[in-house]
Amino acid sequence: MMAITATNLTATDFVAEVRGITLDDVDKEGVRRRLQYLWLKHQVLVFRELETDDANEKRLAGLSRVFGELEIHSRGEYLSPNAPELLYVSNVKVGDRSVGVLGDGEAGWHTDQTYRPTPALGSLLAAAIIPETGGDTSFADMYRAYEALPASLQKRIDGLKAAHSYEHFNKQYSEPANAQQRKSGTDQIHPLVRVHPITGRKALYVTKNVCPYILGVEPAQSAALLEELYERSFRPEFVYRHRWTVGDGLLWDNACVMHRRESFDPNQTRLMKRTTIRPPEDLAVPF
Ligand code: OGA
Ligand code: MN
Repeated sequence: MMAITATNLTATDFVAEVRGITLDDVDKEGVRRRLQYLWLKHQVLVFRELETDDANEKRLAGLSRVFGELEIHSRGEYLSPNAPELLYVSNVKVGDRSVGVLGDGEAGWHTDQTYRPTPALGSLLAAAIIPETGGDTSFADMYRAYEALPASLQKRIDGLKAAHSYEHFNKQYSEPANAQQRKSGTDQIHPLVRVHPITGRKALYVTKNVCPYILGVEPAQSAALLEELYERSFRPEFVYRHRWTVGDGLLWDNACVMHRRESFDPNQTRLMKRTTIRPPEDLAVPF
């Protein structure tokens, strides 16, 4: 087997490109351990030349399973017909029905499934079809964003909690959830600062795109604080922007990374396939 290497794509350890594995290697114990280690050392892993076509969806899910159990996403209408562990993120239509979520517009800064009581630990997003331009995805390092806050601001937000609302996000960037999905929960309360379940490091876990307000803080002050944290979170030194190539797979850690997708030309086609990785149940909450 080839040696597995990881090369930083950022000035810090935030994002690394992993070489030397294929989808055939994921059942090997040594490969699994090495990948699990790399995903704690780095927060985003970039894999290349993965088979992302329909025939290989089960194998793609297998790579994600190295990092935890997979969750079947609540948006049943957008799941792959070949492997329900895969959610399609796409503007492709069959008749007037979209095969995927998020269409062709911008998806503002967020982290996945914070509207769930036990949010996903991570996600693996793989590119099957990409537009000629546009649709880049950016990632922000929420460990370092937190660590760079002035001590007085860290102290101020310590212990504060925010409401997370899927509908608040959907209103700006996506389609509303249906009645069934709403029943399974679209609102939660989470701390502004979360402790990573495995590394124990603190990360900012709040964005005005998802959080309509901070609990117990007067509305004008809550809005100002959300704005200030937003401005401090997505500074260029914390952000990595990915220009996709077909076969790329990016694995990110939802506990310490936020992401954003740029819009693209609606006449172009984009098809991405995403898995959702559960945290170990005994470490899922609280955080
Ligand atoms: C996601 C997501 C962004 C993209 O799948 O959670 O935000 O680039 N996708 O499609
Ligand atoms: Mn997302």
